[in-house]
Amino acid sequence: MNKILVTGGAGYIGSHTCIELLEAGYEVVVVDNLSNSNTEALTRVKSITGKDIAFYQVDIRDRDKMNAVFSEHAFSAVIHFAGLKAVGESVAQPLKYYDNNIYGTQVLLEIMQQHDLYHLVFSSSATVYGEPASVPITESFPLSAVNPYGRSKLFIEDMLRDVGASDPRWNAILLRYFNPAGAHCSGLIGEDPKDIPNNLMPYITQVAVKKLASLSVFGSDYATHDGTGVRDYIHVVDLAKGHLCALEKLQSKPGVVPYNLGTGIGYSVLDMVKAFEKASGCEIPYSLVDRRPGDAAICYADASLAKAELNWQAELGIEDMTRDSWRWQSGNPNGYEDT
Ligand code: NAD
Ligand code: UD1
Repeated sequence: MNKILVTGGAGYIGSHTCIELLEAGYEVVVVDNLSNSNTEALTRVKSITGKDIAFYQVDIRDRDKMNAVFSEHAFSAVIHFAGLKAVGESVAQPLKYYDNNIYGTQVLLEIMQQHDLYHLVFSSSATVYGEPASVPITESFPLSAVNPYGRSKLFIEDMLRDVGASDPRWNAILLRYFNPAGAHCSGLIGEDPKDIPNNLMPYITQVAVKKLASLSVFGSDYATHDGTGVRDYIHVVDLAKGHLCALEKLQSKPGVVPYNLGTGIGYSVLDMVKAFEKASGCEIPYSLVDRRPGDAAICYADASLAKAELNWQAELGIEDMTRDSWRWQSGNPNGYEDT
C-alpha cells in the first residue's frame, strides 16, 4: 500500500488527509476538477510536509483522462472524496448531484475495475441515517435519505455493496463522517466555502472575522439541554487519520463495510458558539430563529466499531476544533482567495 489516488484531494477533508498520508510515507496522486477548491491548498500541503504531490485537474467523469491517470500510476488504493456536498443546492438541482456524485463514482469504479484495482475508501456521511430514531447512532441503524445529496451518498453506498456482492475482489470502507470542523494546526489549510456557508462552524468563523453580521441559530425549542440542535463535531485531522486506519483495514480484505467517524459526544449550537468565543476572544452575535426544515434535534455517533475494528478514535476535542478553526480563519480571512 504505497501509492494512493485521492479524488477531491484539493478540498477541505481531502487536503488534510493528503498531509496525513504524506507524513505516513505514502505517495499521493490527486485528481480534482477544482469545482469547489483551489490548488493553493495543495501548494500549502507540500510546504507543510516538504513532500511532493502529483496533481491532475481532471473531472472523475472524464473516462479518457481518468484512464490516462491510472495508466501512468500503479495505485494500491483510492480514497474517494470528490463530490458535491451542498444540501440546499442538491434540492434545487438534483440532477447535478446525481450526475456528479453517482455517475462520477460509477465511472471511477469502472476505471478501477479495468485497471484491476479493487480497494476503495469512500466519503459517506451520517446523512445516510436520515432522521435517526435514537442516539447514539450505530452502523446497523436503518438507512434513508431526506434530500438528493443524502440520496446520492446512500445510492453510492448501495452501488458499492452491489459490486462487492458481485465480485469478492472488491473491498470498500464506507466512512460515515459526522460533523467535520477545525483545521490543520499550522493554520495554513482549512475550510474555504465558495459561497455563504451552510454549515455551522464556517458560518461562525465568518461572523468572527465580520464577513457575516450575525449567526441565525436554527431552532431553540428542541428537546436538548439548551433547546438548540445537538451534533457530533469531529476535528478534521482526526477524520483525516481515520482514512489511514481504513487503508490499513483494506489490507485484510474486509469486503464492503461501513464505519462511523465521530467522537460520540454531542454539542449544541450554543455550546459551539460559547466555545468559539472563548477560543477566539471574539463575540459572536446571534439570533434565535425558526428550525431549519430537515434538521434532526440530536445526532451523535456510536464510534465503538471504528475503535474495535479500525483501531481509530477521535483524540481532539471542542477546544482544539474552535482554536484551530479560528487560527485558519483569522490568518486567511478570505480563504485561499488572496493568494
Ligand atoms: P470539498 O468540496 O471541500 O471537497 C470535495 C472536492 O471534490 C473539491 O475539491 C471539489 O473540487 C472536488 N470535486 C467535486 N466534484 C468533482 C468531480 N466530478 N471530479 C473531480 N473533483 C471533483 O468537500 P469536503 O468537505 O472536503 O468533503 C469531501 C467529501 O466528504 C465529499 O464527498 C462530501 O460529500 C463528504 N462529506 C463531507 C462532510 C462535510 O461536512 N464536509 C460531511 C460528510 C461527508
Ligand atoms: C448538514 C447536512 C448534512 C450534511 C452535513 C455535512 C442538512 C439538513 N444536513 O448537517 O446532510 O451531511 O451538513 O455537510 O443540511 N445551524 C445553525 N445555524 C447555521 C447553520 C447551522 O443554527 O447557520 C445548526 C443546525 O440547525 C444544526 C447544527 O447547527 O443543528 C449543525 O448544522 P450543519 O453544520 O449545517 O450540519 P448538519 O445539519 O448536521
